[in-house]
Amino acid sequence: MAESQKRVLSGIQPTGTLHLGNYFGMMKPAIELQDSGQDCFYFIADYHALTQLPEPKLLRERTRGVALDFLACGLDPARTVFFRQSDVPEVHELTWVLSCLTPVGLLERCHSYKDKIARGLLPNHGLFSYPVLMAADILLYGSHLVPVGKDQKQHLEVTRDLAIRFNNAYGDILVVPEAMIREEVAVVPGLDGQKMSKSYDNTIEIFGEPKAMRQKIMRIVTDSTPMEAPKNPDTCNVFALYKLLASAPEREALRQRYLAGGMGYGHAKQALAEKYAEVFGAMRERRLELQAKPGLVEDVLQAGAAKARSVAGQTIGRVRAAIGLE
Ligand code: ADP
Ligand code: TRP
Repeated sequence: MAESQKRVLSGIQPTGTLHLGNYFGMMKPAIELQDSGQDCFYFIADYHALTQLPEPKLLRERTRGVALDFLACGLDPARTVFFRQSDVPEVHELTWVLSCLTPVGLLERCHSYKDKIARGLLPNHGLFSYPVLMAADILLYGSHLVPVGKDQKQHLEVTRDLAIRFNNAYGDILVVPEAMIREEVAVVPGLDGQKMSKSYDNTIEIFGEPKAMRQKIMRIVTDSTPMEAPKNPDTCNVFALYKLLASAPEREALRQRYLAGGMGYGHAKQALAEKYAEVFGAMRERRLELQAKPGLVEDVLQAGAAKARSVAGQTIGRVRAAIGLE
């Protein structure tokens, strides 16, 4: 990495099929950063996915699926280090070191843990210490910037806290990272207007079957303003999604139609469905092509892991020396 470059790192769990919230909240900003001249590391957080104990077969399939999604959406492995978390087991050594610096109360305060328990997930130790593993993911690679959705903000605060604790105890070894949160796409709404999330069954998948996705779009919840009346685009779930997909002039044109009245929500949904098909149609084709190439995904991930491991090894070496393990 050149002196002037910053390391950008992000991860995504292979826990389901990726949706518009994942795409606009995390994937798109992350992929766009490839063109910024920064040094990007992106990985599939399969160790994190174990906190929800998926079937082994399903975990493998989903990991491959997420890799294909990223490649189809434009991740370029020639410019970006793309790897599977579990191919760099060094992350566990750093997790342990950080765990010994982590007050239990810090983890008890994490919303994501509390939410998952409230939804009935088993409170296993992995789920509880999840933010420490995430901190190790980030600190192992000397990351400066971490593009994530707003829901991960607290985990980034934990990471910064642990890096500072480590540095105070052992010297300036770890880079203290910053979260990169795009405020304009902070939370993408789902079909029901809540945050789009696979846990709420309100998602529009990015590579879903076109007809089924169209049907989902037609189900998006709107208010009961009559057809003739002017409508407020800024409180409408359909417009919130359209805005993310359309160009500035297209957005403005639909906004005016809302304000003018005489347009039903069905029409806005139609416009959204067309945009969705336009934006994801070509990527869908590309995904099918990539999927048909045997060994491609595994080769990409292995090449990425080799690069990631070499950076990880250097950090672990410095950490071990600093804490007196050698
Ligand atoms: P889910 O809520 O469906 O389980 P994840 O928690 O696995 O999604 O999120 C993966 C990434 O996508 C994270 O960086 C997260 O911040 C982002 N993300 C997920 N849902 C949304 C959303 N509705 N709006 C913005 N970003 C999101
Ligand atoms: N916790 C993140 C999520 O659920 C995934 C993740 C794991 C991650 N390790 C990370 C994101 C490191 C950024 C950096 O979306």
